[in-house]
Amino acid sequence: MEIKKGLEDVYVKETEITYIDGELGRLYYRGYSIYDLAEFSNFEEVSYLILYGKLPNREELNWFQEKLREERYLPDFIIKFLREVRKDAQPMDILRTAVSLLGIEDSKNDERIDIKGIKLISKFPTIVANYARLRKGLDIIEPDPKLSHSENFLYMLYGDRPNEIKSKAMDVTLILHIDHEMNASTFASLVVASTLSDLYSSIVAGISALKGPLHGGANYEALKMFKEIGSPEKVNDYILNRLSNKQRIMGFGHRVYKTYDPRARILKQYAKLLAEKEGGEIYTLYQIAEKVEEIGIKYLGPKGIYPNVDFFSSIVFYSLGFEPDFFPAVFASARVVGWVAHIMEYIKDNKIIRPKAYYKGEIGKKYIPIDSR
Ligand code: ACO
Repeated sequence: MEIKKGLEDVYVKETEITYIDGELGRLYYRGYSIYDLAEFSNFEEVSYLILYGKLPNREELNWFQEKLREERYLPDFIIKFLREVRKDAQPMDILRTAVSLLGIEDSKNDERIDIKGIKLISKFPTIVANYARLRKGLDIIEPDPKLSHSENFLYMLYGDRPNEIKSKAMDVTLILHIDHEMNASTFASLVVASTLSDLYSSIVAGISALKGPLHGGANYEALKMFKEIGSPEKVNDYILNRLSNKQRIMGFGHRVYKTYDPRARILKQYAKLLAEKEGGEIYTLYQIAEKVEEIGIKYLGPKGIYPNVDFFSSIVFYSLGFEPDFFPAVFASARVVGWVAHIMEYIKDNKIIRPKAYYKGEIGKKYIPIDSR
């Protein structure tokens, strides 16, 4: 009997969605290199690819875009919830609860799972952007059906149409977060789906798992770390101190990649571009991140620990105007596509996920009444 702690190296299903080459640092969605998709494609097309297994033709893409645009609006009870809920909540808690509420409303609806998935993919950015504005004391901005998914996300955050660089950076960042094989949140959502529970419950499980600092919450932690360091000159001592205290460098390390995460490579370019344009605090944070990258690789690289997706996405999200605690919720707004796709793939040949735990306690103990213990 062998216990695979953290289910490391355990395969739970066959998949045709995403392939990670952790040794060479390569990532493919449905066989297409992430580098090509980031450069030439867009969020809508890649989401279609992930959900339906092929790049859409013009007609299919039009249908998909139309559906996404129609579903951006939130029902009144969600807007009411966003307005009335406390304004110092974790955005991931807001997202989790909003999805749960949407699930109650949709519980009698027996639409196809992909159609329900499209509703969620569309509504996540509206929930996130609306709460971001309400929290700052600003009023919400209605979605604009003329804009692409990514442009509209930023538009609902800013109130203005984003410039081309920001729109492209947002789009690429969302593409890079869409899926990543059997990560913790995808597994969590599959566990729920495998019981034949509903999609909303499965997605709530995904959000809950993604929130943790060892998973999608690491982008928030990475930015906090860059701020705490304060200046590039302090990086070396900070990292040495952290490592000697057995603390982790957030945004470093990965269960599958034992080399540089290709998503981090792409995000670094956008982080640099945006930071140079923005200047000020963001540029300093970028310089700190670059130094952490260098020193971190020096000490952790030999152990196969390199920057992961969350390292530079933190700078990109911050440059795009998201408050740090919103980063995981923006991540979730892309990863929801992967959750839905894996659920669709798994339940075609469903088997309830039910592993075992190895019992090492005693058995046959005699029950002792409370007053005699
Ligand atoms: N900083 C310092 N040391 C690290 C780091 C890190 N970021 N990551 C792993 N290590 C060390 C561990 O201390 C451990 O050392 P030891 O063997 O001497 O005890 C060794 O590397 C193996 O670490 P595990 O936690 O066993 O590796 P695992 O595959 O279980 O964890 C994880 C992967 C959780 C991502 C880990 O690298 C980590 O905690 N990273 C920081 C948080 C982070 O960035 N998470 C985002 C990951 S990407 C994503 O989920 C979207």
